[in-house]
Amino acid sequence: MPVIRAIRWSLAGCLVLGCGGASQTSNGSDSDSQTGSSGDTSDSEDTTAGPNARPNWHEDMAPLVAANCQSCHTSGGIGPFSLETYAEASAWAPVMADEVEGQTMPPWHALETPVCQPSHTFKYDARLAPEQIAMFREWADLGAPEGDPELAAPIPAPPSLDLDNPTTTVQMQSSVSVDKVGKSLDFFHCISLDPGHTEDVYLTGIQTLPGNREIVHHVLTYIDETAASASWPGGVKQNCGGGSGVNAPTQLIGGWIPGGLPMQPPQGVGIVLPAGARLILNVHYHASGAGPEQDDGTGLALRWTTEKPDYTSFFMLLGAPGQGSSLTGPLQIPAGASGHVEEYEWVVSAGGQPFPDTVDARFWAVANHMHKVGVDMRVWVEDRDTSEESCLLHTPEWDFNWQRIYELDAPIDQGFRVRAGDRVRIRCEYNNTLENQSLVEALDEVGESEPIDVGQGEGTLDEMCLTAVGVAVRGL
Ligand code: HEC
Repeated sequence: MPVIRAIRWSLAGCLVLGCGGASQTSNGSDSDSQTGSSGDTSDSEDTTAGPNARPNWHEDMAPLVAANCQSCHTSGGIGPFSLETYAEASAWAPVMADEVEGQTMPPWHALETPVCQPSHTFKYDARLAPEQIAMFREWADLGAPEGDPELAAPIPAPPSLDLDNPTTTVQMQSSVSVDKVGKSLDFFHCISLDPGHTEDVYLTGIQTLPGNREIVHHVLTYIDETAASASWPGGVKQNCGGGSGVNAPTQLIGGWIPGGLPMQPPQGVGIVLPAGARLILNVHYHASGAGPEQDDGTGLALRWTTEKPDYTSFFMLLGAPGQGSSLTGPLQIPAGASGHVEEYEWVVSAGGQPFPDTVDARFWAVANHMHKVGVDMRVWVEDRDTSEESCLLHTPEWDFNWQRIYELDAPIDQGFRVRAGDRVRIRCEYNNTLENQSLVEALDEVGESEPIDVGQGEGTLDEMCLTAVGVAVRGL
């Protein structure tokens, strides 16, 4: 492991080659189309239909909602209301149609756009197909018919979220409590976990275990390389901001939202967890506001091997704060600025040194990170020889509340190849005006009503322009 640890990439922007093939699954940028209905009964014209018109709840909508919405919209889930029964869901039919057409639900932010057509797809793409989106609208337009329970379609079993054969499971050592403070319902507390390994190990699976599902909104996972968080009383650092909470080397290796499956690097890849390192969870708690709520069970299930895999992997942070150089000067977003852009570049290298082309280096996971002023973020790679650009990730409707790590859906040897000298480029756009609703909310939480000058930092009213990439390397 000394090898891996010694490798520190520096960033610049660059490109990727050999990205694996890419077909799109579905996505839906369609808007309001009323496409063919999947149903047969068409005796309804255009006004409210009979109870058995198609699509109806029992035959059509219930399985769709179970498969795509109920990881959050259950009683006791993080969604603001349950969508488990006909009575619950029918009340929301028109709003559900609006949300799925607008693609705000289910949450998924890695999009194909005119400036970004990734050559790869991502695992666990949550987006609905255009026909499914259309079905939500048709159902709402028909007046949300219930259908006949006798004809109910089978409800798909929820996917298993459990990691196979975990090596160990670690849980927070003490509890945290959240409650409304002023107008604020959102809190970021960091939890330090000791996996208890005594030698360098290679992680092949990581599962986030939410404790209290009613308040755990999302979780970021970091490797704390020097165990700097070991000094936190009870293993908790409250209000630790948007990052790891330590001022020491860390790697962002995971991002979870409710319903998220375990992260499993591609076959043959293991993430280096140095001997003695800890893991830190940055947990976004969303309080209901109904009184104090506790979490004492959040943790991780981990699977690792002690044998070095073909590809060893680590995560790099690129941009601000991270490796690479700014093309636009220090991160400064004046109050009132909209369309403000910051750009960074990192030239692919290892420890600042180029490496030979016999080294097979692949990006297999990528996450964007900004705070509340950010609105659009994109990462791409420019080929060292041809300057051709390959897009890695575009999150054009940035939402701080729905951060995650996107895993490329390809075997590692068909992953996004980078060579020494390629340039990784990162572009972040900010809107520091009151047109930016998430800024309005963030200002409100600290009792401000006008935008302020924003610089780089950990606080929610500071900003970042940071990409985490999972890099797997063979032959170095
Ligand atoms: C990963 C969790 C998650 C999934 C999956 C999910 N939702 Fe949501 N949903 C939320 C949360 C949390 C909110 C509250 C608003 C927010 O945080 O964005 C919400 C809000 C909503 C709203 C209310 C919007 C408003 O205007 O108040 C609707 C309607 C909705 N979801 C419908 C759906 C439907 C339909 C699906 C499935 C197709 C779905 N959601 C899937 C978590 C989820």
